Amino acid sequence: MPQIFRRRSNTIARVSILGSVVFLVVGGWALDAVWWSPYTTKVNVPIEQPVPFSHEHHYSGLGIDCRYCHTSVEKSSFAGIPPTETCMTCHSQLYIDAPLLAPVRQSLAYDVPLRWNRVDDLPDFVYFNHSIHVAKGIGCSTCHGPVNKMPLTWKANTLYMKWCLDCHRNPAQFIRPQEEVFNMQWAPPANQLAQGHKLVEAYHVNTQQLTDCSMCHR
Ligand code: HEC
Ligand code: HEC
Ligand code: HEC
Ligand code: HEC
Ligand code: HEC
Repeated sequence: MPQIFRRRSNTIARVSILGSVVFLVVGGWALDAVWWSPYTTKVNVPIEQPVPFSHEHHYSGLGIDCRYCHTSVEKSSFAGIPPTETCMTCHSQLYIDAPLLAPVRQSLAYDVPLRWNRVDDLPDFVYFNHSIHVAKGIGCSTCHGPVNKMPLTWKANTLYMKWCLDCHRNPAQFIRPQEEVFNMQWAPPANQLAQGHKLVEAYHVNTQQLTDCSMCHR
């Protein structure tokens, strides 16, 4: 009976098995790298806007409170984007002829809202609510990063499910005193965890349900 497989086949088989393992590992790693890269997540990538609105200028330079423009952030699920009228309280007198502001003037003249490009945008099947986070001591900068230093706004976190859950599993890592929620300079103290556990209790944070699927997928 002649041999069906020649002896060399063994080596070929071994090499190709090893080859596929290496391919899977490298391929998996590459996919993972792409999934978490700024190219996919848009994290830290400034977003172009019809008007180059600068938080750095308006918040840090002029000292305008977040709530002056994002009026509903404490009361509702949406923070809200300011209407053109809010800009015009100042820009009807300041920088009136600036070419940069032409779209703002047109928006007012023709009564068509400015179309800002979204920076943070969850898929429709995810429920999010600003007011509860603000009420329970989660600061703007924890989720949105150093907005006060952004000449054009960018996304500071992936907003992936894993990111939400990292906090929902243990909010003590990030929670801060309520009066510091709007403080863009706030940094966690050395004893954040101990402090955080106290705040979680003081604010009656409902840690039991925070990882239930139905919290975010309703
Ligand atoms: C003078 C008005 C004004 C003030 C004050 C202001 N913002 Fe904004 N904000 C805007 C406008 C206009 C946009 C839309 C354009 C953009 O994304 O930059 C925006 C966008 C944002 C976005 C991105 C929204 C998206 O598309 O997902 C975040 C986050 C944000 N602001 C947070 C803050 C925080 C935090 C503060 C206070 C530190 C603040 N803003 C103060 C006007 C303002
Ligand atoms: C409380 C007053 C005030 C409000 C409200 C305000 N601005 Fe301004 N804005 C200013 C001032 C003052 C400057 C000039 C800043 C400087 O050069 O020091 C300015 C500058 C600008 C510039 C020029 C680029 C820059 O940042 O220097 C743009 C564009 C602009 N504002 C857009 C907007 C838009 C869009 C809104 C509404 C979402 C808005 N502003 C709301 C006061 C305001
Ligand atoms: C727990 C994280 C978290 C905190 C804290 C938070 N945000 Fe947001 N913010 C988000 C997410 C997620 C979105 C996108 C929501 C969506 O796409 O439905 C968002 C969207 C926004 C928007 C776009 C408009 C909107 O409502 O969708 C603005 C403006 C904004 N946030 C401002 C603020 C300000 C100001 C604060 C501080 C008072 C704040 N956020 C605190 C996570 C957070
Ligand atoms: C840095 C911490 C933190 C992050 C990040 C965070 N959350 Fe929360 N979330 C909380 C805390 C604290 C509560 C309050 C729980 C309570 O006491 O009911 C909460 C509550 C909620 C609730 C309950 C709202 C209600 O009306 O009962 C929803 C829904 C929610 N978060 C969705 C999200 C989603 C979606 C994301 C990610 C895009 C997210 N959260 C990211 C800390 C966080
Ligand atoms: C704290 C909020 C939160 C909770 C709790 C949560 N999710 Fe999600 N989920 C998200 C967000 C945000 C996204 C969209 C971003 C992303 O794709 O990761 C998402 C996306 C998904 C997707 C779409 C596929 C994907 O990964 O993009 C599935 C399926 C899903 N979640 C299932 C679940 C199940 C099952 C549970 C319960 C074990 C759960 N989620 C609990 C926030 C949450």
